Amino acid sequence: VTDVGIHAMEVYFPRLFVDQTELEQFDGASSGKYTVGLGQMQMGFCADHEDVQSIMLTVTAKLMEKHNIDPKSVGFLAVGTETIVDKSKSVKTQLMQLFPGNGDIEGVDVTNACFGGTQAVFHTVDWVYANVDGSRENRWALAVMGDIAVYDKGPARCTGGAGAVALLIGPNAPLVFDRGLRAVHMQSVYDFYKPRMTSEYPVVDGALSVQSYLSALDACYQLYGAKYAKITNGKHPDLSNFAAVLFHSPYARLVQKSLGRLAFHDFVSGRHSHLSSLDQLSAFRDTPLNATYGDKSFEKAVLTASEQLFRAKTDPSLLFARRIGNMYTGSLYGGLCSLLLTQSPSELVGRRLLLFSYGSGSAAAIFSLSVCTDASRLQGLLQSAKEAAYQLDHRVKASPKQFARALEMREQLLGKAPYQPQALCMDDNDGEGMMHFPLFPDTFYLTQIDEKFRRRYERA
Ligand code: ACO
Repeated sequence: VTDVGIHAMEVYFPRLFVDQTELEQFDGASSGKYTVGLGQMQMGFCADHEDVQSIMLTVTAKLMEKHNIDPKSVGFLAVGTETIVDKSKSVKTQLMQLFPGNGDIEGVDVTNACFGGTQAVFHTVDWVYANVDGSRENRWALAVMGDIAVYDKGPARCTGGAGAVALLIGPNAPLVFDRGLRAVHMQSVYDFYKPRMTSEYPVVDGALSVQSYLSALDACYQLYGAKYAKITNGKHPDLSNFAAVLFHSPYARLVQKSLGRLAFHDFVSGRHSHLSSLDQLSAFRDTPLNATYGDKSFEKAVLTASEQLFRAKTDPSLLFARRIGNMYTGSLYGGLCSLLLTQSPSELVGRRLLLFSYGSGSAAAIFSLSVCTDASRLQGLLQSAKEAAYQLDHRVKASPKQFARALEMREQLLGKAPYQPQALCMDDNDGEGMMHFPLFPDTFYLTQIDEKFRRRYERA
């Protein structure tokens, strides 16, 4: 088995979104804080008739249907999520309703904040290498990741979002995971965690989460460079080697700063022909990395040096992130979909993509994908990206008040049984002429939690 990677991809996000400029006003934040300061335009959200299982059912069913995947041809399915609806029963087992007649599907849920999706992807790749063999077994693996990212009232609420991504993984793929090039950094840190069993909201130390994200990025990039040199007889990579550089995106401005940090690493190691304004970076050449976190003059220098690089290699991957918000486990892979949409295949073929995944707590990795040399093999992925973009433009804008109300409804659902989603019971409007909480066609939704906490779903 060779060239295990991504054959197909499906992205799902909710039909409702809130505008970040309107949210600034509603929250009493200074004008431009969410849009310019954090770089966000819109945020998708779910009412109480969507949960993590329904969004994963939707994205998995769509992947199977659009690509004519026979349910019996799937041998592994791993789920990455941090949106827990049950402390024991996995989301994966709920997805088994999509595979009638095939119980022989390995894999369960993987959880560690936004990183669980990437670990699920790694598991699928490894499963294919270990098990798929023309003579013995020739089956697909699926990685499905998704979350409903919600925060309590306060400065973090505007960095929520919701969505799910499903990937079809197998040999001889158009997007291949590079072997030997997973650089991982894990440590124990209380930057963002969910200790309250009766709340969907995390406990967040915002500043610490940003520092932890950036320090994991530093460690992963250095390790990736060392691993790359090992398999290429000492050749060290820099950002010019990659057609695109993608990041987990809690908000777009952090991603831009992250690319700047990687540019700084290139500069310090003497590879800087792709950077500008080097004199500004020189001032920090001997500054220990630890002293750079949160340093505004350092940030300004790296942002200036990497500005063109950002436009060329990273901005194209941020379309969904800016307009949907943080999809947590799905965020990085939504970035991949966005890249395929906005970058011409001719700029990607035969090249590598660099990806950074981060999950609080913390677990992080930098890894890379090699794009096949034949652009026609990217057509299926491009088509899925176009369909997702079409849906993005056919969402319904909600008011900040309606968004706040949806989150209140979600709060009321927790721990309740029996429960009927309020979004299904509303026949009135909220005085603002809005239709209540619409879904895209073919979306799975929660119809009921029965007296034994069993969840029932139907498809719109
Ligand atoms: N116009 C333009 N920019 C503005 C304005 C304005 N009116 N007001 C503020 N800003 C800028 C600030 O200068 C700041 O920019 P900087 O970071 O470049 O200096 C930015 O907007 C944010 O403002 P802060 O005051 O720093 O924001 P605050 O501390 O209130 O909240 C935070 C930001 C910490 C990201 C919060 O939203 C949060 O906790 N989010 C969840 C945690 C998170 O996403 N962490 C990231 C990694 S972990 C993960 O993926 C979950």
